[in-house]
Amino acid sequence: EKAGYKHFMLKEINEQPRAISDTVSGNYKLITDGKLDGIDLNKIRRIQIVACGTSYHAGLVGKFYIENFSNIPTEVDYASEYRYRNPVLTEDTLVVSITQSGETADTLAAMRLAKEKGAKVLTVCNVIGSTATREADSVIYTYAGPEISVASTKAFTTQLTVLFMLSLLLGRERGVLDSSEFDRRLKLLMEVPGKIESFLNVEREEEVVKKIALEFYRSKDALYLGRHVNYPIALEGALKLKEISYIHAEGYPAGEMKHGPIALIDENVPSVFVATEGKVLEKIVSNIEEVKARKGKVISVTNPGIKEVYELSDYVINVPEVDEFLSPIVNVVPLQLFAYYIADFLGYDVDQPRNLAKSVTVE
Ligand code: M6R
Repeated sequence: EKAGYKHFMLKEINEQPRAISDTVSGNYKLITDGKLDGIDLNKIRRIQIVACGTSYHAGLVGKFYIENFSNIPTEVDYASEYRYRNPVLTEDTLVVSITQSGETADTLAAMRLAKEKGAKVLTVCNVIGSTATREADSVIYTYAGPEISVASTKAFTTQLTVLFMLSLLLGRERGVLDSSEFDRRLKLLMEVPGKIESFLNVEREEEVVKKIALEFYRSKDALYLGRHVNYPIALEGALKLKEISYIHAEGYPAGEMKHGPIALIDENVPSVFVATEGKVLEKIVSNIEEVKARKGKVISVTNPGIKEVYELSDYVINVPEVDEFLSPIVNVVPLQLFAYYIADFLGYDVDQPRNLAKSVTVE
């Protein structure tokens, strides 16, 4: 059932092109029709996203999408915090929960609180018939298929896909995006599966990632740095490494480095930068310089032809260039593979890491 792969995680990483296209086609009609069951789109004045773990990181990217394409003020909370912080909820708040399993106790509690307070709840979920889908006012499914590995991969990239589509729907319905911009962005999304496919199977960059993992699997710590839409990808890369390889890793927005974390840098601490095309690329380049000046080792996820990043980095992983807003969906793939190979080199049980369960059904 692992279809020839050594672990489910590797199989699921490789299933991402298909999972993303299934998610686009499965939701195409819903998004182009411009309606969400049980929710009056014109009433929404603010959005609160609630989720845990990797799904929370998807929510952080979702905030960029929703605010940028639909102008609706959006907050993102850990469900475990939200449920105890007495959030300000009004009838014009839409609460969006993101949960692969639909059974995460904290996320369900956050949804119930939101409903009690009179807000509408939309869930982005991967499991048909799960508790979240039964309790929400409206559901948008990710079509990732069953995810067996505890470390979430294809669920994450399909969550990003849904959040991107949702933000386009909201943007068009609210007059922020005109139809041609809506269509153009949707087309760009449809190119993403092919780009990931080419990264995995044509360019064979996986071999490059594996070699870098072999250099670093004995590290004790690692930093992951990104900015703008790729800041949450830095957090996600660090979480992947922590949960399956038990190496201490921290994800940070790269601009925060000089406010503290840069003190950690020395020749033994690798920094993984997400440095692909986009409006903050130059800023990232200066952050790489700051790390190099302190003798840190730099691994960069970048696009072919970005000279400054090449020259400054010790190791480079090339991903195909895509629209900046869609780049998180592509950029996370090498970080998943990097964590995978490190855990495998260390001989750990990749699919069943210690202390963790696939779905966290207790508080
Ligand atoms: O099923 P959910 O999306 O609600 O699960 C949330 C987290 O428990 C989950 O994403 C967890 O962080 C993963 N193990 C990360 O790989």
